[in-house]
Amino acid sequence: MVRLNINGKDHDVDVDPNTPLLWAIRENVGLTGTKYGCGIAQCGACTVHVDGVAMRSCSLPVSDAAGKKITTIEGLAQNGKLTKVQQAWVEHDVPQCGYCQSGMIMAVTALLNEKAKPSDKDIDEAITNICRCGTFQQVRAAIHAAANA
Ligand code: FES
Ligand code: FES
Repeated sequence: MVRLNINGKDHDVDVDPNTPLLWAIRENVGLTGTKYGCGIAQCGACTVHVDGVAMRSCSLPVSDAAGKKITTIEGLAQNGKLTKVQQAWVEHDVPQCGYCQSGMIMAVTALLNEKAKPSDKDIDEAITNICRCGTFQQVRAAIHAAANA
């Protein structure tokens, strides 16, 4: 049994300690906003925050996340109020199919928490998530909008 604190709530999950955090979040806890893309830490679809740091949950064993504060896409909006990143995503119509977008938003949220006004170079370095629909220009515009909101 591993205790995971996800979006402020403790969950005891009955999994092997080596199970990737992504599976515990989706299958055991039932939060399906975090997506599976590549499974090898390349695409970023599975990005969550662990103690505020963006991590690729497909490649993080639950044992490394136990006792830490995990935040998923479901934990961003509070009382129905979108964060400034989510709001910018809506205003810039960023998602196309949407599959990569929760991971993208989690990565961007972590970037803006660390650097309030990132340059294009900062964005290129920090946001390495892959979008098969090619939303990269809208993502960049929305990041700048959120930074200036
Ligand atoms: S599914 Fe985790 S990085 Fe692609
Ligand atoms: S919006 Fe479709 S993969 Fe990114």
